Amino acid sequence: MYFIANWKIQLGVSESVKLAKKIKDGLKKIKKGTQVVLCPSFDSLEAVGHAINKSDIHLGAQDMFYESKGQFTGEESPLNLKEIGCKYVILGHSERRKLGETNEDVNKKLAAALQNKLIPIVCVGETLKQRRAGQTKGVILKQINAIFQNVKISRADKIIVAYEPVWAIGTGISAKPENAKEAKDFIIKLLIKIFKKNKIKKFAVIYGGSVNSKNVFKFLDEGEMEGALVGGASLKAEEFLKIVRSVTDYK
Ligand code: PGA
Repeated sequence: MYFIANWKIQLGVSESVKLAKKIKDGLKKIKKGTQVVLCPSFDSLEAVGHAINKSDIHLGAQDMFYESKGQFTGEESPLNLKEIGCKYVILGHSERRKLGETNEDVNKKLAAALQNKLIPIVCVGETLKQRRAGQTKGVILKQINAIFQNVKISRADKIIVAYEPVWAIGTGISAKPENAKEAKDFIIKLLIKIFKKNKIKKFAVIYGGSVNSKNVFKFLDEGEMEGALVGGASLKAEEFLKIVRSVTDYK
């Protein structure tokens, strides 16, 4: 079960450290099989990494570039992310896609993440217009096929796919658990087509989009999701802790 906090650029460095410490204090023991990941802004990564040192909480980046070294002004190197302690990386978030990121970019980033032993959290999902036009499955199909094209999965790899309907992100209007379940089943079906059936164990499908402590359980239970990608509700320690605790035997 994955609980991934995406702080976007909502917090400064010291605010991020403070929040990370509160979350760490609230999660002294994390149930086996539950992964808690904090994804602060790039400039806060190192400081948050120090703050969660010697805990079971992991560090993740919100994006990265597909080259590790070279003349790429302003990009983030997967190699450097690894060096400062990142274990996870979010790829293809709709807020990046809105700024011009394509499925082809995400495909290259995915290959680079796996090569650098970062666990990718690949985001897919439709806009409201696409949902209303009945194009949800068509959009997911196009995204999954393009992103996973020619991607080799090795023995050690683990990949998370986050179903994040764009219309549910930051809006307070979450999808219904049955929408999430339908998307998950469809995503798994597509992945089975691309990869061998035994490789499917390497994938976890999680939900993101206005998740909070009141609705998270429905997504995990009725929606059969394997975790949540949490934006707004991860900015308050108590709320995020409630989300994690709502489904674990945390003591
Ligand atoms: P939200 O964001 O929880 O604020 O909707 C989710 C996300 O951007 O991944």
